[in-house]
Amino acid sequence: MSKSRIFIAGHNGMVGSALIRFLKNNDFEIITKDRNQLDLLKQDEVNNFFNHEKIDQVYLAAAKVGGIFANNQYPAEFIYENLTIQLNIIHSAFLSGVKKLLFLGSSCIYPKNINRPIKEDDLLIGKLEETNEPYAIAKIAGIKMCESYNRQYGKSHGIDFRSIMPTNLYGPGDNYHSENSHVIPGLINRFHNAKINKLTNVTIWGTGNPKREFLYVDDLARASVFVMNLDKKTYDQHISPMSSHINVGSGKDLTIKELVKIIKKVVGYKGTINYDHTKPDGNPRKFLDSNKINNLGFNTSVNLEEGLIKTYQDYKKFHAKT
Ligand SMILES: NC(=O)c1ccc[n+]([C@@H]2O[C@H](COP(=O)([O-])OP(=O)(O)OC[C@H]3O[C@@H](n4cnc5c(N)ncnc54)[C@H](OP(=O)(O)O)[C@@H]3O)[C@@H](O)[C@H]2O)c1
Repeated sequence: MSKSRIFIAGHNGMVGSALIRFLKNNDFEIITKDRNQLDLLKQDEVNNFFNHEKIDQVYLAAAKVGGIFANNQYPAEFIYENLTIQLNIIHSAFLSGVKKLLFLGSSCIYPKNINRPIKEDDLLIGKLEETNEPYAIAKIAGIKMCESYNRQYGKSHGIDFRSIMPTNLYGPGDNYHSENSHVIPGLINRFHNAKINKLTNVTIWGTGNPKREFLYVDDLARASVFVMNLDKKTYDQHISPMSSHINVGSGKDLTIKELVKIIKKVVGYKGTINYDHTKPDGNPRKFLDSNKINNLGFNTSVNLEEGLIKTYQDYKKFHAKT
């Protein structure tokens, strides 16, 4: 029997490369294409690719991703590129007969200021955070696209397109660019540079009091494969046709101050930390309710300090200025 052919869209990214690490020793054929071989913004190229490659499963981990600054600065690119990549892949996958697809969303799909663990059913109950609204709207459209294709073609064509919503991710292959980075790579970069430049002090924006949740990317890769491979009956018992996405969090959150303390220790920076209270804090808390995936049998395995040590090793190897 021929091996299943799995397309990982976005294989050079942080999530895509974690998926490759996790899947590579299994009995699958993994198909990847660099951006210069297949531009996912081009419908013709994507259609051609699916027509020729006979793909069985798709992990949709290609996206335009960035922190607050990038989202604020380039809102048109965030909404256009994310919608287009999703439309192209989901529709062409469907047309070419792909039955199984996993769409990677993000916890920013949920309304702002929900100061309790956020459940899947909180989607669309309120206003989104303004800074990344275009990105979030694209991600919500991705979930709804999977659901709509399942509802219209699930029975007739046997398709089963699923979605997961990860919390903030970190790990090897993260983006350390100062304008585009998320909180963990941003802090690692700043502390490392402060250490090598022998700076006596680092200033962090805000009070340090907001609480955030972080998940090591290899745990997310395991969760992705877990959800993709859940048998349909079990999956269907835990979702509904118009609320089918599943949260993936670590189940633990901590204050930015606590996070800063751990990163300072992991990087080995000896200076002092100041908090600039004149700068905005953002949401006081953002924490996913991950009971659904936990009840289905998935648990994370990498704790934050262990994950940060591995991330810093990767940073020093590939990204650090020395
Ligand atoms: N990072 C997080 O904290 C986080 C949290 C929750 C959810 N997620 C979700 O997880 C998914 C992956 O995120 P990530 O952090 O792995 O992002 P990433 O590191 O920026 O990777 C994104 C990948 O998409 C590829 N890509 C983008 N546009 C493309 C195009 N037009 N044609 C071909 N390839 C294209 C990029 O290719 P190049 O390498 O050529 O640029 C890159 O490999 C996204 O859907 C994101 O929303 C991420």
